[in-house]
Amino acid sequence: MKKNEEKNLYKLISSVIKKKSAELHEPHFNNLEINYLKEAIKKKSVSRKGNFVDRFSKKIKYLTKAKYVILTSTGTSALHLALLALNIKKNDEVLMPSLNYIASANATLYCGAIPHFIDVDEESLGIDPIKLKKYLIEKCFVKKKKCFNKKTKRSIKAMICLHTFGYPAKILELKKICSKYHIKLIEDSAEALGSFSNKKHLGTFGDIGILSFNGNKIITTGSGGAILTNNLKLAKTVNHLSKIAKKKHPYKLDYDFLGYNYNLSNLNAALGLAQIEKINYFLKNKKKLHERYYKKFQKIYYLKIFSDNKVNKSNNWLITLVLKKANKKFLKKLFDYTNNQKISTRPVFKLLHKIKYLKKYPKMNLNKSIDLENRIITIPSSSFL
Ligand SMILES: Cc1ncc(COP(=O)(O)O)c(C=O)c1O
Repeated sequence: MKKNEEKNLYKLISSVIKKKSAELHEPHFNNLEINYLKEAIKKKSVSRKGNFVDRFSKKIKYLTKAKYVILTSTGTSALHLALLALNIKKNDEVLMPSLNYIASANATLYCGAIPHFIDVDEESLGIDPIKLKKYLIEKCFVKKKKCFNKKTKRSIKAMICLHTFGYPAKILELKKICSKYHIKLIEDSAEALGSFSNKKHLGTFGDIGILSFNGNKIITTGSGGAILTNNLKLAKTVNHLSKIAKKKHPYKLDYDFLGYNYNLSNLNAALGLAQIEKINYFLKNKKKLHERYYKKFQKIYYLKIFSDNKVNKSNNWLITLVLKKANKKFLKKLFDYTNNQKISTRPVFKLLHKIKYLKKYPKMNLNKSIDLENRIITIPSSSFL
């Protein structure tokens, strides 16, 4: 790699976005959001009740083709509810990639369960199905339709797979492995609204999928999330749990069990409805942005730009460059230089098994995650660039 190569990459990014400064992913609003918010305020429907909640969830249902959609206060609360609904309890093990956002591990710990870290592959940046299969054959046994960790004797009850930056994990293979080993499958599709694999929306392959509508996502409700499922029983449980398990009654307050105040407000849903009505526009613009970046970066010999294949159609949430060889020093120079110039670029997540309070939990050999940690660069990807 040439000296000052970070400056060259900065110039390439700038030449595509033609802006002096850019965040990694910013929301795009117009009068529609303001009008819907005004309407909710005028009707005084700002909390749990109001028609924006219904209208927004119907739109998500239409886009994802999930049978049931339950809106939640955040993506993290959606993950927590997913684990609770699948009956994940103290000391159950939950498989998840180490190359991951923190929410899966946190939600697992909220249940008193144990995160168990799995490696990813380079093609998908999601869990490596081949490595997972070998690992399960070696380290687990199945008894009475339950999977157990040979070493810890704990039950491996669920897996949370991540669709990293909106790019589909090898979900069909992962689903097959989970059903063979009687492991429940949760898809963390927080970053993947508008992403498809084999023409099916991500988050609808497993038992439960989750979405996030945080401010940096493809659409935002300010703060918010959703549960996707095709299972009526799970949908009912999640819905009840997310509304503090309050018994239905016109005025009396009583509760079935310990629930959570995890539902999305009508005010947030008003913002969400305005946003989802524009999702095709956002997706189209982001695809064009990816094409513009692709033209520039395909000529760079030391990296590749992450792109769709025949069966995957991603939302290009965070456009991603992957160095062919790990180079920690170069990445530091690049992140320092570009961010100093007000063009946001970021590394991939800090690997979960390296985070202080997660170091003690079980893990497989994580060679690929460790390698990719010093190879990934995400670049400005907002829909209006
Ligand atoms: C992969 C992933 N999972 C979960 C979350 C949690 O979502 P939220 O911030 O809405 O709680 C996020 C985002 O922030 C995320 O990127």
